[in-house]
Amino acid sequence: TRTQVAIVGAGPAGLLLSHLLHRAGIESVVVDIRTYEQIAGTIRAGILEAGSVRLLVDSGVSDRVVTEGHRHDGVVLRFDGENHRIDFQELIGESVWLYPQTEVFLDLARRRAVDGGDVRYGVADTAVDITGERPTVTCTEPDGGRVRIEADLLVGADGSRSMCRHAFPPGARGEWFREYPFAWFGFLTEAPPSHDELVYTRSEFGFALISQRTPTMQRMYFQCAPDERPQDWDDDRIWTEMRRRVNGNGFALREGPISAKMVLPFRSFVTAPLRHDRLLLAGDAAHTVPPTGAKGLNLALADVAVLAEVIGDFYGTGDADVLDRYTERAVRRVWRAQHFSYWATTMLHAVGGASPFDIERQRGELSLIAESRYGAAYFAESYTGWQQ
Ligand code: DHB
Repeated sequence: TRTQVAIVGAGPAGLLLSHLLHRAGIESVVVDIRTYEQIAGTIRAGILEAGSVRLLVDSGVSDRVVTEGHRHDGVVLRFDGENHRIDFQELIGESVWLYPQTEVFLDLARRRAVDGGDVRYGVADTAVDITGERPTVTCTEPDGGRVRIEADLLVGADGSRSMCRHAFPPGARGEWFREYPFAWFGFLTEAPPSHDELVYTRSEFGFALISQRTPTMQRMYFQCAPDERPQDWDDDRIWTEMRRRVNGNGFALREGPISAKMVLPFRSFVTAPLRHDRLLLAGDAAHTVPPTGAKGLNLALADVAVLAEVIGDFYGTGDADVLDRYTERAVRRVWRAQHFSYWATTMLHAVGGASPFDIERQRGELSLIAESRYGAAYFAESYTGWQQ
């Protein structure tokens, strides 16, 4: 098979790129080792920045994010047992949308299918080769047939364990990395919302986040040890832990049966440059953020918006050097999001061995964000996504 752009990874980054290229008259083939059902069944974060929503709606992916998602005009920072609302609309005139990543995937997959896009789920034994004149992807289709896809450009949108990233020759890219001494325990609960907006809580027992999914299903997280095992936590134990972090002063969690328990890894990672020859990286393949603030999906979509433009310029000019602008343009936002995710994490989590000074300093920081107009605006702009 010959195509213009071969894309490895049919998550939101790969599918949005394929969609945007299609709109620009550029053809692509997308492959993923996961089946459609596996991707659709993966639970990920649920918050879209204002710019992500505009990108999905304006590029014709779907209106469902605005018809079925929920606009949130603020969030609550809860510390010292009190709620402090950050009013995004009043501070900076923006909002975010609660709309789970799974729904973004379903919208993109449907749009690609309606537009006749070539998306191959459930392939096996994928290999990429960028040593020849044109990059190739070879893989085995679900029916057992071996295919070789030859392309002008190869895009790795294949997630944090990216195979494409490892196809860069040694020394062709740098890596920046940070680990955290904790993780998140995430779960779904069948209960009404505990609050009308998301609540990010700092407590002496650690961080907790109250998010939402539907009027009858809620998503919550609490800080845990990285080696915690979901099966060791029954409903009672989870609610006891959540209550002591969150409840008090008239605020009480609405509890229900728990499902979909998982421990989320906590890492900050960046690689750059994002291009080597005809291979380009996007989304988690290029960078990972800790989950606090839900920047991962938003960053992947922002990468792809730039990448689609740069690929359009490449075909417009015939000049491969324009591909270098992708790194230059995308990396600025990557480091902002890295900073925000790291900062929001350190501001809200309890770190073992923190000194009394560290703890009081952290409370001082939270009071500045919650009570200073400029502090709150800084948080609001970062959370809703930088407009420039
Ligand atoms: C969700 C996840 C996050 O990491 C976050 O900051 C906010 C919401 C969620 O899954 O709903």
